[in-house]
Amino acid sequence: MTKTAVVTGAARGIGRALAVGLAEAGYDVAVTDLAAQADGLAETRALIEAAGRRAFVETVDVSDRAAVVAAMARIEDAAGGIDVLVNNAGILKPARLEDLSEADWDAHMDVNVKGVLSCCQAVLPGMRARKAGRIVNIASIAGRQGVPTQGHYAATKAAVITLTRVLAQEAGMDGITVNAICPGIILTEMGKNNLGSDEAIRHWEEVAALKRLGAPEDIVGPVLFFAGEQSAFVTGQALNVCGGIYFH
Ligand SMILES: NC(=O)c1ccc[n+]([C@@H]2O[C@H](COP(=O)([O-])OP(=O)(O)OC[C@H]3O[C@@H](n4cnc5c(N)ncnc54)[C@H](O)[C@@H]3O)[C@@H](O)[C@H]2O)c1
Repeated sequence: MTKTAVVTGAARGIGRALAVGLAEAGYDVAVTDLAAQADGLAETRALIEAAGRRAFVETVDVSDRAAVVAAMARIEDAAGGIDVLVNNAGILKPARLEDLSEADWDAHMDVNVKGVLSCCQAVLPGMRARKAGRIVNIASIAGRQGVPTQGHYAATKAAVITLTRVLAQEAGMDGITVNAICPGIILTEMGKNNLGSDEAIRHWEEVAALKRLGAPEDIVGPVLFFAGEQSAFVTGQALNVCGGIYFH
């Protein structure tokens, strides 16, 4: 039977690549993003359908818990259950910690941490009932080692890694695995804004063992691994997918 995967923040960037990659691997895919990203979501839907799979679309802000619960319930009804959840939606607005506003701290926590938790809470009852499920959280190598101007973002991604480890222990008895991926520098809108200049891109290309930065498609294979049967005995892990710029 065809499995259904949900990808949050799938209107562009890594989320879109994951949605298309999952469709090409044979999953029906439900994609969510902010209402302001409806056009991008429609393009992602068309790419999923072009891969021959069913697409489901929900506009939802992951920081709104009630909206998340309602959207996941609609997806479960329409698709007949959620087999894989990929928590990809995230934000990064760089600031030095001493200058960081309370509003920006709260926004990063609400989207990057509470959003992940709310989506997990929304899908776990169905996964437990079916005694199977895969959750893949998109964290960041920033969550392993903070860098200047990303202290608040790094704190959210460290929290995602910790949530991953604890949820894995709390849900494993029901056949559910929970793992995280820690991308390095991926050349999406977020990645390019973060680097800021061609010079910075060249610097990090030189640092990387593979002498290049990432494309969104570089995250697809690791997500398919965690989503699939080959990883059935892997849970609570965080995998760096960074071309060799960070090794811990
Ligand atoms: N690009 C990188 O270098 C990089 C590195 C490490 C980790 N990541 C992580 O990968 C994920 C995807 O990043 P990306 O580079 O594709 O970024 P992006 O900014 O290109 O895309 C993020 C998507 O998430 C959506 N989103 C933001 N806030 C949302 C909310 N409240 N509710 C629903 N959707 C929301 C955006 O609308 C957008 O479509 C993020 O979690 C990010 O932190 C990215």
